[in-house]
Amino acid sequence: MKRVALLGATGSIGRQALEIIEANPELELVAAASGKQPIEGLAPLTQVGGDPTRLLESAEPDVVLNAVVGFAGLPGTLWTLEQGIDLALANKESLVAGGDLAVAAWERGGGRILPVDSEHSAAFQLLEHREPKSVDSLVLTASGGPFRGRSRADLEGVTPAEALAHPTWSMGPKITVDSATLMNKGLELIEAHFLFGLPYERIEVVVHPTSVVHALVRLRDGAALAHLGYPDMRVPISYALTYPERAATRIPKLDLASGLILEFSAADEDAFPCLALARSAGEAGGVAPCVLNAANEVAVAAFLDGSLPFLGIPDVVERTLDRLDHPPARDLDDLVAADAEARRLAAALTREPAAR
Ligand SMILES: NC(=O)c1ccc[n+]([C@@H]2O[C@H](COP(=O)([O-])OP(=O)(O)OC[C@H]3O[C@@H](n4cnc5c(N)ncnc54)[C@H](OP(=O)(O)O)[C@@H]3O)[C@@H](O)[C@H]2O)c1
Repeated sequence: MKRVALLGATGSIGRQALEIIEANPELELVAAASGKQPIEGLAPLTQVGGDPTRLLESAEPDVVLNAVVGFAGLPGTLWTLEQGIDLALANKESLVAGGDLAVAAWERGGGRILPVDSEHSAAFQLLEHREPKSVDSLVLTASGGPFRGRSRADLEGVTPAEALAHPTWSMGPKITVDSATLMNKGLELIEAHFLFGLPYERIEVVVHPTSVVHALVRLRDGAALAHLGYPDMRVPISYALTYPERAATRIPKLDLASGLILEFSAADEDAFPCLALARSAGEAGGVAPCVLNAANEVAVAAFLDGSLPFLGIPDVVERTLDRLDHPPARDLDDLVAADAEARRLAAALTREPAAR
């Protein structure tokens, strides 16, 4: 039996995780947490809002699935890594914002991070037991979101409802908007850097509209290995929760006979500047990724409530990054302060029209 603690139990990933746990007699849900929604009775131990540390300590889990959205997931990530407990990580924002601290806690704790993001789950499987020097680069695929193929001018005036209509994945609202701006792929680039220890210049992003290939690894002899599967988060969730066994799931097998379309193209960084913003924040290091993430959370919330246009999202993120310094964070307090300062500035910038 594996004891599972589930943070973010009411969300898109959380609900799919409950389905996987329910169907697998080897998995036992010992604790669950949400942000606001009531979840009493869902697990022996539950908590709504706040720092989940005490809940996790009492639950004594074998694996923590962190499916909280946003920077709020950071305490759960840091606690789990510090304890050396397996972390099934969906909450990419914690690794983006707190990458250096998280990696240090991971090294001290000595546990495992089992990525839940489908691209990182794929990359983890492609890279496992592979000689690092044989790897040339990692390729993350992006569906391109609902606005793939549009120019910058075509993105003026797109609505939250249009941005929320993702072509291949059904997900929570924040990540769906991030997919439409390509910030999601930018966050994933930074996540991959910290998860796999690869420098940014060895992580590529390509657009692949059907989301069947989740990631590729290019090897030094010219071969490339790919991970394929239908876009269904229950596969990487199950993989992370049952690792290393890899339990059976009810997800349909790839139907190769019906003709799979494996089309790839470069991302349009002019129409979707968030990807380049994330890459440069990652390369800048220090608290730059934390600032990027905080500004993006504020801008996405403003877009969803109708107070910021779609193109205002990259604009607010860029101006927030430009106006703040990005020193390294020595500890969690530094990171929380950088996050709060970036949120204050980004909120002010959402009310201030862009200069261009
Ligand atoms: N959805 C996907 O397919 C997918 C794929 C890859 C990666 N991810 C990543 O997985 C994470 C979750 O995504 P999602 O789509 O499942 O989001 P979601 O549907 O919006 O769910 C978010 C979850 O986080 C909880 N939460 C929010 N604020 C919290 C706080 N302050 N403290 C504790 N819990 C809090 C919510 O609780 P309440 O309901 O009570 O507010 C909810 O359970 C994100 O980091 C996302 O990038 C998601």
